[in-house]
Amino acid sequence: MPEVHMEYLNFAEDMARAAGEILKHYASRDKLVELKGRANLVTVADRESEELIVRRIRARYPDHGILAEESGLLVGSGGTSTGRWIIDPLDGTTNYAHQFPMYSVSIAFEQRGEVLCGAVYDPVRDEMFTANRGGGAFMNGEPISVSDMSSLSDGLLLTGFPYDFREKVGWALGLFRSFLIESQAVRRAGSAALDLCYIAAGRCDGFWELDLQPWDTAAGFVIVEEAGGCVTDFSGKPFRVESKEILASNGRIQNEMIKAIGRVEKG
Ligand code: IPD
Ligand code: CA
Ligand code: CA
Repeated sequence: MPEVHMEYLNFAEDMARAAGEILKHYASRDKLVELKGRANLVTVADRESEELIVRRIRARYPDHGILAEESGLLVGSGGTSTGRWIIDPLDGTTNYAHQFPMYSVSIAFEQRGEVLCGAVYDPVRDEMFTANRGGGAFMNGEPISVSDMSSLSDGLLLTGFPYDFREKVGWALGLFRSFLIESQAVRRAGSAALDLCYIAAGRCDGFWELDLQPWDTAAGFVIVEEAGGCVTDFSGKPFRVESKEILASNGRIQNEMIKAIGRVEKG
């Protein structure tokens, strides 16, 4: 693995940890919660966390692109050879605003359309999930790998709902109903980046969600793959960070999950 990839990952990890300190700082204080949409929140912690990350990237890699949730695309297209950073400064804002202790910072680096590395930090549990393409996946420096669960009916699944799910409630609930019946249990934890890391760490076996954004999935995507898991869209095609559907698992139950989705009416 090129030295520079390790440098990017170490940098992502440092930024995620520093941003996590900001989240911890505001966790028990007034967070100045605002609405971006009907149920889509933003807090002072989202903004300060993103400012810190963007400032550090600009100082160190001024020619790199940045795609950050609260500011949109700041520079670059990601298709260039310099690459771009993909950032969710606080994944799980609704949880955070309610003091439900499940949220994270997610930072990935992508070059020529390929996510090279990712770091997802859970400041509540002090868990840092990392992966470098081709170098394995880790939690707090220890190697992690997906579960060996081989049947969907025994599997523990994770999911989430898009903020505008009211517009596609039939499809979203159809999927939920189907997996509730076909798996052992389903959890809705509230941070897609952590959902993916929990698949990578073997704590859960499968995850699906509709309408996520690149900043929700980019880091978790490489972490799942490097932990030996599989990430596709709902029909089994290779996942891209722009994909509107994500299906991730330990790999062993991926086909069963694709088949289960295929039986749900897209109403
Ligand atoms: C949200 C979380 C949640 C998922 C939503 C996302 P945010 O991100 O990842 O788990 O279900 O679809 O938008 O808004 O808290 O960064
Ligand atoms: Ca998010
Ligand atoms: Ca966010």
